[in-house]
Amino acid sequence: MKVLFVTPECAPWVKTGGLGDVSAALPAALSEQGHDVRVLMPAYRPLAQLVLEGSQRLALPAEDVWPAAELVRVASVGFSLWLLDCPSLFDLPGGPYGDEKGVDHASNAERFGFLSHVAARTASGASPWKDWRADVLHANDWPTGLAAAYLKRMPAPQARSMFTIHNLAFQGNFPADRQAALGLPDEWMQVEGEGLLHWGQISMMKAALRHADVITTVSPTYAREIQEEALGFGMDGMLRARSKDLHGILNGIDTRVWNPVSDPLIPVRYGAGCLDDKAANREALQVELGLSATHAAPLFGVVSRLTDQKGIDLILANLPWLLKQGAQLAVLGSGEARYEQQLRDAAQAYPAQVAVRTDFNERLAHVIEAGVDVFLMPSRFEPCGLNQMYSQAYGTLPVVRATGGLADSVKDASAPDGTGFVFQEDSADALRETLMRVLRVWRDPAAWRGLQQRAMAQSFGWPQSAQRYAALYRQTNGQTNGQTKGDSHAGFQGKPRAARSGRR
Ligand code: ADP
Ligand code: GLC
Repeated sequence: MKVLFVTPECAPWVKTGGLGDVSAALPAALSEQGHDVRVLMPAYRPLAQLVLEGSQRLALPAEDVWPAAELVRVASVGFSLWLLDCPSLFDLPGGPYGDEKGVDHASNAERFGFLSHVAARTASGASPWKDWRADVLHANDWPTGLAAAYLKRMPAPQARSMFTIHNLAFQGNFPADRQAALGLPDEWMQVEGEGLLHWGQISMMKAALRHADVITTVSPTYAREIQEEALGFGMDGMLRARSKDLHGILNGIDTRVWNPVSDPLIPVRYGAGCLDDKAANREALQVELGLSATHAAPLFGVVSRLTDQKGIDLILANLPWLLKQGAQLAVLGSGEARYEQQLRDAAQAYPAQVAVRTDFNERLAHVIEAGVDVFLMPSRFEPCGLNQMYSQAYGTLPVVRATGGLADSVKDASAPDGTGFVFQEDSADALRETLMRVLRVWRDPAAWRGLQQRAMAQSFGWPQSAQRYAALYRQTNGQTNGQTKGDSHAGFQGKPRAARSGRR
């Protein structure tokens, strides 16, 4: 299949979270299986040099409300990476979604509307690629949400469209007065039918849910959860209406990047057969972070956006107790100021036991995965989550709440095939009980080692999930194949709730 994969981030070039990792690993896995994948992403400011060195460039003349731009082929790493070069929209200071202070870029509607428009154009008869025609346009999260809608108005032949929800909480909702700037026809300015209005706003997420031929999300459990009011973020009714077209496919991990046997970023490489070498990584991490060199209790780790989603408050509520038990905590993450501040206060009060770093640091993320004993991920909701899988690969036992992809990828220690610690209720007490269990098992080295080995024996590679995507691509193109639909779920009615707009 020829796949145009459009995304706002792709690691290692642009990454603010798991979407960046997935947007590199899934296209690579599909390419390895013989599919021909082009990834399309904006040429943000830090990519200027790549654009200059691009091996191929194609002009996109101005059209309707849209500016002139260029498509630049900048890399070929299994898949080929194409950047959408349009300095007036993408050459901005800060990150992909906001400025240096984290405030959303004022032109986000136009920026990501344009990315979606170009994706639709290149997946249709109007494509500037004359020698390559996409069978499938695969769009990811709200910044690409309008692509499937625009595609319907493009000249034939049109590719089929897939949209993957990585996080329903971020919806790309913008004021209705952006209609003209986004070139949206009047028929779409309604709530029902083809409409993309959501509580009076233009919703890029809703546009995708209405117009994509097939919808996926990143775990089977999250596919069920988003059809219910509690985690449907106001879109559960629409998702129930499309439940036949909604599939949950668990993300994988890129074992070329996240593998303790070959990881160039960690101090000492190790595998399931030489787990004692993991201790050297623990010591190196303690030294790097200025923690005391104790083995009395587990060293806990967090690598995360510090937001409500991630249950950081549940960790903070248990921190004084955890420290009394002699445990240590290493945190790498940034996000809400109150969480950053409370964590910094704890690090200042207990420098031998708590260390906090608030930058975005790929190397330290690997060093923490290798060095800590337990990874904390008590998320309120988690579409998939990658760190609980990285942790298991590194023999680091994850503590997770049973939601979304966490429920689908971690088995509780109480089961014979346990690989971590799972709790149900969204409460500090439920986390506390689980932490008590962790400390009990920690005192039984043989049991701990057994959990580590089972965790490391898990297979979270991409090949299987990539095959499921490919099967769906074929299915939306009307080709028969062995795809089973056991992971879509019929739903029930409920009322919508308030939604959030930007990402991050
Ligand atoms: P989400 O996409 O919701 O943030 P995921 O678990 O899917 O959650 O992915 C998060 C990714 O971002 C992981 O690869 C994690 O290591 C990485 N990450 C998060 N915060 C940081 C940080 N401060 N520095 C380096 N990597 C980070
Ligand atoms: C989102 C989700 C996370 C998921 C990632 C990649 O950011 O919050 O759970 O792993 O996307 O799909």
